[in-house]
Amino acid sequence: MIKISEDFCNTSTQVIIGQNAISHLSEIGENKKVAVFHPKKISIDEVKKYLKNYYDFPIDDGEEAKDISYSLKLIKDLFEKGFDRGDYVVAIGGGTVTDVVGFIASIYMRGLNLVNVPTTILGMVDAAIGGKTGVNFENVKNVLGTFYQPSVIIADLNFVKTLPVEEIKKGIAEVIKYGLVLDKELYDFLALHKEDIYNKDLSVLETVVYKSALNKLMVVKEDERETKGIRIVLNFGHTIGHAVEAGSGFKIPHGYAISVGMVCEAKIAEEMGYAEEGVVEDTTWILSHYELPISVDSLSEKIDVEKAIGAITKDKKVRGGKLLMPFPTRIGDWKRVDVPLETLKGFAEQCLR
Ligand SMILES: NC(=O)c1ccc[n+]([C@@H]2O[C@H](COP(=O)([O-])OP(=O)(O)OC[C@H]3O[C@@H](n4cnc5c(N)ncnc54)[C@H](O)[C@@H]3O)[C@@H](O)[C@H]2O)c1
Repeated sequence: MIKISEDFCNTSTQVIIGQNAISHLSEIGENKKVAVFHPKKISIDEVKKYLKNYYDFPIDDGEEAKDISYSLKLIKDLFEKGFDRGDYVVAIGGGTVTDVVGFIASIYMRGLNLVNVPTTILGMVDAAIGGKTGVNFENVKNVLGTFYQPSVIIADLNFVKTLPVEEIKKGIAEVIKYGLVLDKELYDFLALHKEDIYNKDLSVLETVVYKSALNKLMVVKEDERETKGIRIVLNFGHTIGHAVEAGSGFKIPHGYAISVGMVCEAKIAEEMGYAEEGVVEDTTWILSHYELPISVDSLSEKIDVEKAIGAITKDKKVRGGKLLMPFPTRIGDWKRVDVPLETLKGFAEQCLR
């Protein structure tokens, strides 16, 4: 079991990683009400043992459950059960659950205590950490959201036992991202452990989750609200990745889209002279080693290139005809670069056609 404690502006977050980490739930909510939100398909029999005064809220998960209308329904449930400030909300599930439940915990009575219990690799290494919550509005992703740090994050590797390998793959794309721009040691570890990871060796996965969580926490700690140009590093592969998602009508899963995005953005970094020789090769190698797509040809859906380029133009981060992007310089290191939109669109066309 590994424990990390981090202080953010107003909150102290404890992260507990390991098999049976869930037992730490017994330490929360003394004399308080505890709302346990979890997807209907994930049993909480194991969880119940550690809680006294809890209310069970089985919910829907997946992207449809991120519509704001569903959050309002969940808020009504809390209200009817008389939850008030000081009470606890536990979000058990993948990134869609921690995004939605984090959101309602942050706005209900100006904030309840939040405990995230991610059950997917993507949740454990990314979505449940860092305090961003988000729900969808008018079919646009994450238009509504808050910054709200959970007080505890419990990543119990036992949840991986039921997780399809396909879902592990999608999460590993984000782990590879940390390796490529922040952590050469993690890159080297990943290079050696593909079989262990896809065969669900839980002690290897524990190391992967720990190293990833540490990387994300360090970045978020330095730039919690994305105001200092540091948190942008987490966006590596995501500008082109979002374009791929948009160009496929959101049929390509995020993990696969950013995989193509990372290769493309590494190529742009190399061609613009920011990345050392070999970065593109190492990026492509590790992603294909993990059987992740490295070009649009390896995707299961066709990309509408006009739509994809349109998404780049509409990117929230465009300022004065330029887009601030994190470029890998060598494995484990990065640099912020202001890229003219027209230059980026030109490179993106080459990658996506
Ligand atoms: N807030 C953030 O910082 C942040 C960061 C990255 C992604 N996200 C969000 O995360 C979401 C994606 O997260 P996700 O990939 O975890 O999706 P998800 O929550 O939809 O889970 C993926 C699938 O795995 C299933 N599942 C979850 N845990 C399981 C388990 N232990 N065993 C078997 N099946 C299980 C779910 O039912 C679902 O079908 C997106 O909405 C994205 O916007 C948020």
